Amino acid sequence: MEPLVFSRKGHGRELSAGAQRRTQAFLNVENLFPRHNRLMVEMSQGNTSTRQSTVQSYSESGAKAYEDPMNKEFLYGELTRRFLKQVEFQPNDKVILDIGCGTGFVFDELGDAFLSRGMQGVGIEPAAGMLEIARRKYADDSPFTVFEGSFEHIPLENRSVDKIISTLALHWVSSLEVAAQEMRRVLKKSGSLDIFMIAKDDGAQFKKAIVAAQRKHLTFAQIMTTATLVQRVTPKECHAAFQSFHDDFDLQVEMFSDVVYGSFDDHMKWWKARSTPVIAEIEDKDRFMSDLREELEKIGSDKGIPFDTAYLWIKGRSKKNG
Ligand SMILES: C[S@@+](CC[C@H](N)C(=O)[O-])C[C@H]1O[C@@H](n2cnc3c(N)ncnc32)[C@H](O)[C@@H]1O
Repeated sequence: MEPLVFSRKGHGRELSAGAQRRTQAFLNVENLFPRHNRLMVEMSQGNTSTRQSTVQSYSESGAKAYEDPMNKEFLYGELTRRFLKQVEFQPNDKVILDIGCGTGFVFDELGDAFLSRGMQGVGIEPAAGMLEIARRKYADDSPFTVFEGSFEHIPLENRSVDKIISTLALHWVSSLEVAAQEMRRVLKKSGSLDIFMIAKDDGAQFKKAIVAAQRKHLTFAQIMTTATLVQRVTPKECHAAFQSFHDDFDLQVEMFSDVVYGSFDDHMKWWKARSTPVIAEIEDKDRFMSDLREELEKIGSDKGIPFDTAYLWIKGRSKKNG
């Protein structure tokens, strides 16, 4: 038996002999993925609500900037680490799904926990450039496998996942309701969910400076399009979008906020890596960066340029276990 249907179709990587043995011994992965071939056809026909412009810009420039330590250790990188340290696992957790896994940050951070608990990590990511980096990182004998997919199209069987984790990806979907329904489909009734996403007022002051710089480069309509790329929701709106979870799960949506100061260069490292869709249509990106520096320095103080973060932790716990 081949452990991964993806390899046969050339979408995935070949596993080393060690990884195959481990995967086969651990769980029959093939049973998890039979929907994959059909999903690939849908995605290639464009019959999907995954935002292709977002995915493309992550694939091109975002992927390269993403692995920069400054992106990982400052602001959102730091907040993601803090979030992941608090994520708890149950003894029965075996298959953990990370949606919008990017270059594999969750697996980088939780590698030891996966190994010591014998858990299998499945990463789903729509941007080819990000996928490629994650696949290269976890090419060999590792408990992690990464596949093409999205919140809207998770290439896994119904009720096949014990836990869903996602960091800073859910706000890129065009419909939270659709994403929630698809997550509900693959999550076991006894499962759990921990999602970290940005909230409505995230970077409100910082965003004003971005819009001021964008006005020199984009039309009003283009600015409005970039402004609506990200789902900016309150905890209440998020709770309502997860209606499909309410019967079987207790859902808690908590909001947190912090102000993080940094130099222009500090901020640009993470911003360029994480916000490429916002500048995708700007032709003269160098000129835009110098205009942005001017606008951001206007809001700076002796502590540096502030970024007022606001983020949500969506925590879903099975009523069955409670
Ligand atoms: C800011 S990165 C976060 C990556 C990773 N989770 C991390 O914390 O480092 C956002 C990721 O979401 C992905 N993404 C965008 N739209 C998506 C969608 N509809 N479904 C799943 N992932 C999506 C992007 O391609 C990108 O890799």
